[in-house]
Amino acid sequence: MTQFRIAPPDMPLIRASEITPKEVFLNRRQWLAGAGALTSAAGLLAPSAQAAQVIEPLAAKPNKAFAPSDAPTDKKLATTYNNYYEFGTSKSAPANEAATLTVRPWSVEVTGEVAKPRRIDLEELMRLPLEERIYRFRCVEAWSMVVPWIGFEFRHLAALVEPTSKARFVRFTSVARKEEMTGLRTAVPVLDWPYTEGLRLDEAMNPLTLMSVGMYGETLPNQNGAPIRLVVPWKYGFKSAKSIVKIEFLEQQPTSSWTKSAMHEYGFYSNVNPNVDHPRWSQKRERLLPSLFASRETELFNGYTAQVASLYSGMDLKANF
Ligand code: MTE
Repeated sequence: MTQFRIAPPDMPLIRASEITPKEVFLNRRQWLAGAGALTSAAGLLAPSAQAAQVIEPLAAKPNKAFAPSDAPTDKKLATTYNNYYEFGTSKSAPANEAATLTVRPWSVEVTGEVAKPRRIDLEELMRLPLEERIYRFRCVEAWSMVVPWIGFEFRHLAALVEPTSKARFVRFTSVARKEEMTGLRTAVPVLDWPYTEGLRLDEAMNPLTLMSVGMYGETLPNQNGAPIRLVVPWKYGFKSAKSIVKIEFLEQQPTSSWTKSAMHEYGFYSNVNPNVDHPRWSQKRERLLPSLFASRETELFNGYTAQVASLYSGMDLKANF
């Protein structure tokens, strides 16, 4: 396949073998560039359009326990209809703008209430047991998708740093680079950057909680949160922070960017629940993309009751929305 190099000349070309463990590296690298960037005359390109994304084939054993009855959403749709406010607030902005984010090299600082705090390179994280799991994914805006994620269980990462007995919560922080993220350059910030989200420790340690490094058999596109993001399928999509650079184990419950922006709209738990409406979106029904109609009934915990209901036994889910 032809290799396109449209990044600035001082941007080093990274060899695929350097960024992907051998066992998951199947083919030669592919440079996938935005069609617009390829067809534009180089001199007319805005700086934000000059970078190219690197998307690699990524093999992972399918975990057959996670196979919803619905077929996976079309890949094109799942990678062009996104929420990633650091690149703009429209659904199409992330796919158009996110190529500017440098995703290699990458590391995640893991700290807080742990015996062995450390910065962990992406390469090491990608050697944790990767699986492909097809999860339902539900946005608070009441649309949903079915996505074949590739990732490892969060608890495997936790084992590397050994949380102490004081750890009760986990905070996830996304990358925030003004020079690489158009949405961070707005006169009035849309959110309190960097984007942060939190989970209770037992939620994070639930085997369903995935750190995703790929989707549809490839590494993550930037607009979906490359190179590593959270996927918590029984909660509304905004809990699943993208492009994570920091993970902290905490004694106290953290506040998230969304809760800070509107505490009555975005609660800490944000479990998918047809009986608890968001002030602006009824959660009774959902629109499985590409459908235009909210023709499906929302399932409690997005259908993952068997795996997660015990986390909330005795809790008032309306008060703890
Ligand atoms: N993470 C960051 N850093 N910034 C964001 O704007 N949007 C959230 C979540 N994670 C968001 C984020 C929301 S609202 C949703 S619905 C999902 O990402 C969308 O994930 P997807 O684009 O892969 O479908």
